[in-house]
Amino acid sequence: MEYGIPEDLIEEVRLRTDIVEIISEYLPLQRKGKNYLGLCPFHTEKTPSFTVTPEKQIFYCFGCHTGGNVFSFLMKRENWTFIETVRHLAQRSGVSLPERELSAGERKKRERRRRWEEIHEWTAAYFQEVLLEKAEGEAGRNYLLSRGLDEQAMRAFRLGYAPARWDGLVKTLSARGVSSSEMVEAGLGLETDHSGVQGVRVYDRFRNRVIFSILDSGQRVIAFGGRVLDDSLPKYLNSPETEFFSKGHHLYGMNRAHQGIRERGYALLVEGYMDVIAMQKAGYANAVASLGTALTKDQAKLLRRYTTKVMIGYDADAAGVQASLRAGEILRNAGFSVYILSWPDAKDPDEFVRKQGSEKIRQVIDAARTFIEFKYSILSGDSVPHTIPEKAELIAKLAPDIIKVVSPVEREGYERFLSLELGLTLEAVQSEILRQEQKKPKNGRENENSRLGQDISVKNRDNIIRYVQPEPVVPMGIYRAEMVLLRLMLEYPPFVSRFEKLLTAQAFKVMEHQEIYRRLKSGDSLSQADLPENIQGKLAAIMVDEIELTHPEQLFEDSVRRLKAGQTEEDIAELQERLIMLEKSGDLAGAMVLLREIGERLRRGE
Ligand code: CTP
Ligand code: MN
Repeated sequence: MEYGIPEDLIEEVRLRTDIVEIISEYLPLQRKGKNYLGLCPFHTEKTPSFTVTPEKQIFYCFGCHTGGNVFSFLMKRENWTFIETVRHLAQRSGVSLPERELSAGERKKRERRRRWEEIHEWTAAYFQEVLLEKAEGEAGRNYLLSRGLDEQAMRAFRLGYAPARWDGLVKTLSARGVSSSEMVEAGLGLETDHSGVQGVRVYDRFRNRVIFSILDSGQRVIAFGGRVLDDSLPKYLNSPETEFFSKGHHLYGMNRAHQGIRERGYALLVEGYMDVIAMQKAGYANAVASLGTALTKDQAKLLRRYTTKVMIGYDADAAGVQASLRAGEILRNAGFSVYILSWPDAKDPDEFVRKQGSEKIRQVIDAARTFIEFKYSILSGDSVPHTIPEKAELIAKLAPDIIKVVSPVEREGYERFLSLELGLTLEAVQSEILRQEQKKPKNGRENENSRLGQDISVKNRDNIIRYVQPEPVVPMGIYRAEMVLLRLMLEYPPFVSRFEKLLTAQAFKVMEHQEIYRRLKSGDSLSQADLPENIQGKLAAIMVDEIELTHPEQLFEDSVRRLKAGQTEEDIAELQERLIMLEKSGDLAGAMVLLREIGERLRRGE
């Protein structure tokens, strides 16, 4: 009852809902064999690559790699939460869900939230009125005009001005019946140290600043940022962290960007308020900014609702470069493909647009570098290292990023890139990366030769204690290859039997992957409710992972080779262990036989 709706009812809703019927309401679908085909609603395309598979009750777009079940379709398309989606489908399919009574606490919170929104709305309107209509807003008006924003833009982006007064907002709000403590709670008013004659006194938090209203995806004002008009400090003052607003959970510009990101197929991440406005004004409604903090995991998660691709267009200075590396790291770990932009002859996107004009943005986007290329150029300082140790060190530093690359084809592309750049053979680069790959997980391993999920019995005098070995950490390259293979099998079922002829289920080192494969092989349904949660999770990860599926054959072969190589290594490690035992026990003849076998396998492997 994690969501307040019993699991079996969720399952009932799922069973009574037909994905083809639901999706048909959003786009025309054409039958093609077992599948239905249409134009993808999540990115712009001219030839249909959006597939719905009624048999599996899933959808998948070969263009933008968005995929999932009927729930995820509606969540993405309608921007609903899971619970909202279930409720909607339940109503359609006639499943009655228990009306959940809000607890007293929840009702209170909801009321507080409404009040909060109302106060923020009044405040935004007040700041805007001062900016556009009042004499004391002139300074702000001139400032924004000088930065290239006309009145229309000021309205569109809900900009405002907080006058150089102590009580401008306080008076306005109290005339509407907002109490002093409400103003303080909303972070709009500050308390004076000394209580005056009439009790608590509050004064305006934002004074003498241009105001940027921060809106959520539902177009509600939830916070403000205020910028000084000159060089005084602090340059920006923002709403404090409160019950309903936390910087690390929001992105500035999201109110427009959730649409823009879908249309463009990627998010454009910039640093500041002005950058977002400049880009959105120039037609890039997919621009967002992380509100002056380093990008957080929660912000990455927020973006993940709309896309799997981010272009980072941070400031050109050293801080911007460092921030790009950090944000890129977080985004890649959250499953995004990440590109880095650079703004020639400008310190940030805002200045770039003002200097070069918005038509030039296209060129910047076209010249985007992948995160790994960018990191390479930062690490090498744009000059190729000369000595061998320097080269090895550079590869070692990039290895963790390359290991994370899903597609073996793409991975080899990076390996080739490095081999060309550094003047090393491809094999040398690959084996250095492999060395790093194998080095890493060992720290986390409890037992080096533990086999996956193997039962180990430990005799403890009279009773036998059984326990399951902890799952060994699987090298990232293998982990990815497993995901790719399963995805291929899910998309193109004939791969299942082809795999069967080449490898056993044990070739999958991730327990859940092994289980998914078993089910695929035995033809068990994968859309049942009784799938354990961990399997469901992995399955979803596989289905929504951005994998370039344009060359399935190649991908299949590469990934199989990778698993085989992993298995050979493992076998050899085992043989080597036995070899040591034999040597220790003095069985040199046996050792010789084993040695020959190891040599044989090494030759055969790969
Ligand atoms: N920021 C902040 N508080 C500060 C400084 C910066 O919250 N004291 C945030 C703001 O969201 C700001 C972003 O960090 O937009 C980037 O800062 P910066 O590059 O200094 O500002 P710009 O947005 O480029 O402002 P401007 O172009 O007006 O100088
Ligand atoms: Mn700037």
